[in-house]
Amino acid sequence: MAGWAGSRLSARVYDFGVEREWLARPAGVLLWGTDTRLMYETIRTIGAMPPGSSVLDVPCGGGLALRGMRPEQDLRYVAADISPVMLSRTRAQASRLQRPVLVTAADITRLPFGDNRFDLCVCFNGLHCLPDPAAAVREIARCLKDGAQLVGDTIVRGAGLRQDLALSAFHRVGLFGPGHTVDEVERWLSDAGLRVDRLTRSGAVAHFAATR
Ligand SMILES: C[S@@+](CC[C@H](N)C(=O)[O-])C[C@H]1O[C@@H](n2cnc3c(N)ncnc32)[C@H](O)[C@@H]1O
Repeated sequence: MAGWAGSRLSARVYDFGVEREWLARPAGVLLWGTDTRLMYETIRTIGAMPPGSSVLDVPCGGGLALRGMRPEQDLRYVAADISPVMLSRTRAQASRLQRPVLVTAADITRLPFGDNRFDLCVCFNGLHCLPDPAAAVREIARCLKDGAQLVGDTIVRGAGLRQDLALSAFHRVGLFGPGHTVDEVERWLSDAGLRVDRLTRSGAVAHFAATR
C-alpha cells in the first residue's frame, strides 16, 4: 500500500486514465491485455440495487464506482480507502456527481463495520495492491449480509510475460502486492465462505462475482 498512501501523483495518473472509459480501453489493452468494458459494465450493476440497499465500495480509490449510482437512487453508499489522497478525491467526485456518499478511512483487512451490514460490496482494482488479499476478502465477507454479493476485479499473474513483468514492476515501486493467480482468487473467495458465481479472466484481469 505504501505507494498509494501519500502519493498524489500515482492517484492523479491512475484516476485520469480510469475515469475516462475511452482512455482506459487502449491503456487496458496495452498494459494488461484486457477489455476494460467488463469493469464499467459491472460498475453499472450498482444502479440496479433496490431502494434502501447498503453498498460498500472498497477500496474506493478516487471514486470510480460512484458513477454506477443513479441520480436520486435510494442507497446507503459507503466508500472506504486507506489513502487520505484517494478519500479526498472520492469526496470531490461525490460532490461533482451530487451523490450522497459516506466517505471513510479504512484498512480493507480490518474494516470498521459490524457483521452482516451490506447488500453489495464492489471491489475494483484493489486486491492486487495488497500484501494479504485473502484477509481482505475475509473481512468483506464478514460485513456482507447473507445472500449479499461481492463483485469486482483484480490483476492476476499468468496472462503473459509482458503482463507479469508489469505486475512485478508495480510491486517493486510499492503500488502492488506480490501478485497472485486466478486460482488463488477462487480460493480467497471460497475460503471466506462465499459461493463463486463467476470468475473469468480478460487478459491479466480476473473478474469475480460471489455470494455470501
Ligand atoms: C488501483 S486503486 C483502485 C481504486 C478504485 N477501486 C478504482 O478502481 O479506481 C487501489 C486503491 O487501493 C487502496 N488501498 C491499498 N491498500 C489498502 C488497504 N490496506 N486498505 C484500503 N485501501 C487500500 C489505495 O489507496 C488505492 O486507492
